[in-house]
Amino acid sequence: MFEFYIWNWLELSVRWFHVVAGIAWVGSSFYFIALDLGLRKNSSHSKGIEGEAWQVHGGGFYHLQKYNVAPPNLPDNLTWFKWESYATWLSGFALLSIVYYGGAEMFLIDVDVLDIDVFTAVSISIVSLMLGWVVYNTTCKFFLSDSQTGLMILLFFILAIVSYGYTEVFSGRAAMIHIGAFTATLMSANVFFIIIPNQRIVVADLKAGKVPDSIYGKVAKQRSTHNNYLTLPVLFLMISIHYPLVYTSEFNWVIALIIFLTGVLIRHFFNSQHAGKGSPYWTWAVTVMLIFIAIFLSTYRPEHLKPDLDEVKFNDEYGELISLAGVTEIISYRCTMCHAKEPLWDNMYVPPKGVILETSDDVLKYARQIYIHAAISNSMPPNNLSAMEPEERLILAKWYEEIKK
Ligand code: HEC
Repeated sequence: MFEFYIWNWLELSVRWFHVVAGIAWVGSSFYFIALDLGLRKNSSHSKGIEGEAWQVHGGGFYHLQKYNVAPPNLPDNLTWFKWESYATWLSGFALLSIVYYGGAEMFLIDVDVLDIDVFTAVSISIVSLMLGWVVYNTTCKFFLSDSQTGLMILLFFILAIVSYGYTEVFSGRAAMIHIGAFTATLMSANVFFIIIPNQRIVVADLKAGKVPDSIYGKVAKQRSTHNNYLTLPVLFLMISIHYPLVYTSEFNWVIALIIFLTGVLIRHFFNSQHAGKGSPYWTWAVTVMLIFIAIFLSTYRPEHLKPDLDEVKFNDEYGELISLAGVTEIISYRCTMCHAKEPLWDNMYVPPKGVILETSDDVLKYARQIYIHAAISNSMPPNNLSAMEPEERLILAKWYEEIKK
């Protein structure tokens, strides 16, 4: 019992840390992108200064100058920005381990998608994240001197294969979090393996009085451009796991890809604005259009969830079940072992998310949630642990639609 509290607090603390680290990383990187694009030339500049910016914040004025390659003398107290990224990845991986590896049977595996054991599922998760970096890094290096737009289109196709692949091995929810984790791993690895080491080489060269090779800057620029465009989609994917209608859709992986496109569009809008190149409002129009396509795609449910309509229509037994009493009976068979004041499920000491489904009053109180999580999606029961039938979901749906009329 006490152990349960420790795990709960561990999960909460790691999540807290992860969100804070993520805010610091995204915040500092958005700040630097805007700063860099907003630099303006000033004719009175001394040699080597590329541009400057004036900013006001928190009661003070800031005057920032960017040196083309580096200042003549490097200061001793140079501030690096890297721990924001590393801390986000480390805490993210810890959270993935606690929620999805620790609770693999509930949240990682879906036997209706692929019947695998916990060890296999966790191995696929870890190996795919590592392999993703190898493939991505090799592709980027290979196409360094080619069109960077072409490279991004190629990477988008790789992402499409990966996204589809995840939905073929994991539950919808785990698939979404993995598409996000896969992308975020590339982003952090870009910082850890490419951007920071290259910057170190440049600094070392400068200190030694050598002119650094321009290749280091070029590679770093390539990777930070990718990171810039990937940020918003990753955040969407992370929070999408709270929306069963999105992650249990047959086309959840296409929705993820659409979100990657909207991420590029939205960043393009702000990048243009910061650079003083106007406001391309069309990006918002296309974004809204894409979101509507995503909404439409989210209405498609996987084949194995489709009930046998004949059975429901012509079976008197089912006919009678479309009532509060009937629905409560289904809930008591399929949900109450976990959603009770004192759950019967192993190692469960409180009703998950405080949701208690014991009486018909409870069913009425949670009718909308039941509809979303168990009738029109299969996010509950997790991994269909209590073997709910598609026909039962249809009954829940019909009942709710009836009482809402
Ligand atoms: C095996 C145990 C188990 C069974 C059976 C189960 N649930 Fe859950 N339920 C959970 C867990 C665990 C969570 C918390 C999920 C999370 O952490 O995101 C949850 C969360 C929920 C939530 C809150 C979701 C949210 O994000 O706020 C609802 C509503 C819910 N379940 C409804 C149901 C219904 C309806 C059924 C039966 C059709 C059901 N559950 C069956 C374990 C179960």
